[in-house]
This record gives sequence, C-alpha cells and structure tokens, in this order.
Amino acid sequence: MTEFRPPMALRASTPTAWAEAATADPAALLSDHAHCEKKAALNALSLSQSFADAPRASVLLARLAEEELNHYRRVLEALQGFGWALRPDLGNPYAQALHKLASKGLLDRLLIAALIEARSCERLWLLEQAGSTQAELGSAGWLAFLLELERCEAGHAVAYRSLAEERFGAQAEARLEWWLDRESEVIQTLPWRSAVH
Ligand SMILES: [Fe+2]
Ligand SMILES: [Fe+2]
Repeated sequence: MTEFRPPMALRASTPTAWAEAATADPAALLSDHAHCEKKAALNALSLSQSFADAPRASVLLARLAEEELNHYRRVLEALQGFGWALRPDLGNPYAQALHKLASKGLLDRLLIAALIEARSCERLWLLEQAGSTQAELGSAGWLAFLLELERCEAGHAVAYRSLAEERFGAQAEARLEWWLDRESEVIQTLPWRSAVH
C-alpha cells in the first residue's frame, strides 16, 4: 500500500467510503476532473499576473500552469480512451463555497488554491487506493496516473502556500489557520458526488 504524504494538515479527513460515491459514475468523475484541471491552469496563469515583479514566482506559476494543462490534456485523452464524452461543466460547489467566503485579495486567492490542491491530493490518493476494485478505473496505467497527479498536486499546494508566505509573511500563516477551519466546514457540508470534490 502506498503511503499518503499530505502536503498540508487538513482538518477534516475524507472517509474512505467517499471513493465509492465518487466512482459511481466514472464518466462524470473524469469530466468534472477535466474541467478542474483546465480551471487550475487558468487560475495559475491569472495569478502569474500578480507576480510580474517577481521573476522566480512568475516562472514557478508558468510551470504550474503548464503542468495543469498537461493534466487537462491527459484527462481528456483518458475520457477519449474510455469512449466517454466530456460532459458540460456544471461548476464546482466546493471551490464556489470557498470563493464566496474570500476577500478579493491575492492572499486569499493563493491560500484557496493551496487548499484546493491539498484536498484534491487527499482525494486522488483515496481514488487510487480504491481503484483496484473498479472495472474501468482499475487499470495499472490509470492508477499510476492518479498517483502521479496526487504527487504533482501536492507540489502545487506547497508552492501556493510558499508564495503566500513569501509575499505576506506572518499574515499568511494567520489567515491559513482561519482558512483551514473554513475548508473543513465546507467540505463536510457538501454532498458526495461523482467528482473529486
Ligand atoms: Fe492538476
Ligand atoms: Fe494542481
């Protein structure tokens, strides 16, 4: 069994039974995830505009956007491989709930990005663990892809948190404390569906 190495100490653990609900409709899960990867790429590009004066951060965010775009393409290819159509983007209630609580500022945008990456990471790992019993998503190639995504999103969670701490110092740590409680409240109130969150 692979060991889970969380990039951040989230305050609500997802029960393992969640994976069954998430994979009830595998085509919906993959479609939703494709939209998530695309939005993650766009968000990284958008955030890079706020770091135009910081070359190292700009490069980091450009690389991050590139990785998300790579994930987006590969999830689309996976859908194609299974013979499933990409379904319409119905929005992501989890991300929407977090953004509703946020100020419009850069600090919150960075911390929300870090939290979403950390939660995705936890859930991708749960999917990987549950995967061996599922027909469509049980292939070795698919499980290896999930693990690769999980490790990559962990790196993104750390990167967003570091960017927040570099730019905002102690204020970022205090705000992250507040956000960890909010994230845990939000994730526990949302119904399970065939999506990563
Ligand atoms: Fe990704
Ligand atoms: Fe990511």
